[in-house]
Amino acid sequence: MRITCPNCQKAYNLPDSKLPAGKKVTFPCPACRAPIKLDLRPKTPGDKISTLFQIRRKKPPAKLDPVTPYSKTQPSGMALKYGLLRAIGELPIMPQVALKAQEVLANPDSSMRELVRIIEIDPAITVKVLKLANSAYYGLSGKVSSVQHAGTLLGYEVLGEIITVAAISEIMDKTLKGYGLDSGKLWYHSLAVAFGSKNIARKKYIELETDGFTAGLLHDIGKVILDQHVHDRKNSFEILMRDSQETFLSAEKKILGFDHADIASEFCRKWNFPEVQTQAIKYHHYPSRSQDNELAYILHVADVIAMGSDLGTEFDDMLYQMDNGAIDLLGLDEIKVSNIMAEVVQSVERITNKV
Ligand SMILES: [Fe+2]
Ligand SMILES: [Fe+2]
Repeated sequence: MRITCPNCQKAYNLPDSKLPAGKKVTFPCPACRAPIKLDLRPKTPGDKISTLFQIRRKKPPAKLDPVTPYSKTQPSGMALKYGLLRAIGELPIMPQVALKAQEVLANPDSSMRELVRIIEIDPAITVKVLKLANSAYYGLSGKVSSVQHAGTLLGYEVLGEIITVAAISEIMDKTLKGYGLDSGKLWYHSLAVAFGSKNIARKKYIELETDGFTAGLLHDIGKVILDQHVHDRKNSFEILMRDSQETFLSAEKKILGFDHADIASEFCRKWNFPEVQTQAIKYHHYPSRSQDNELAYILHVADVIAMGSDLGTEFDDMLYQMDNGAIDLLGLDEIKVSNIMAEVVQSVERITNKV
């Protein structure tokens, strides 16, 4: 389908297979960010027939095996989930330094010295911490050469944030074959959601600023955990998404029995991340199911903002919709959202030394 942005008039070609037939969708124009609304509901009996025709006429490409998407030989549901959770110690997912930093930062009596000691023994993380401290975002451009010095100049809180970023980048900066994400794509998205969450929290729920930042970095870690399993079932995903117009998220649920947000939340709980974060991560796509976890709404809106600012993770992003009540609950409006988006893009560019 060819669509034109009503604001900047830029035209795009969207593959019909990616559009949810029979639904209304809104997504931001990749060029000017103005909302583009599409009403794909059939308007006349003729439209209804043509929609059906479009769906029916698609045949599986030759390379795909036209079998049922649900494999009987691969584990799914509880068997897969508990298998993953049982193997948590063997999965080299979360670096020890990230867990130790989390422990120290959660203790109100901990000191700068303890924080510095965590990373001093890990040269790779130390290099990353110094690179981040010297980035345009933290503003010490080339002035610091030791973690202790960075801590003195930036303070305990900021140093804790930098250590969290450095440690989590180890896991999120990978290529994910199952999700079709090149190296860096998920990491840039995670940074965008972290900065967006921090910004949104600061406006109304200041006490959630730090939790928002960490949860933003980790919200899609489920994709790292599930990547191999998604890759092993790539055929099933492609068939289900093509034939049933499912989003990747609902395809995860149908094929694996749970989605990346579920498993991320379970892992984060095992790693002793605060409950407010684990719950928010679980519901970041459906915050209204979270029983009023404000952080889930914050993550959700930051996620949608990241998708709208080209810091998303896949084309499918366009089909995720903003939860209706989220904007009001967080005290946001169109202007505030567009300001947050601009700040998020700038922060990601500055922390990754793109400017
Ligand atoms: Fe997600
Ligand atoms: Fe996300």
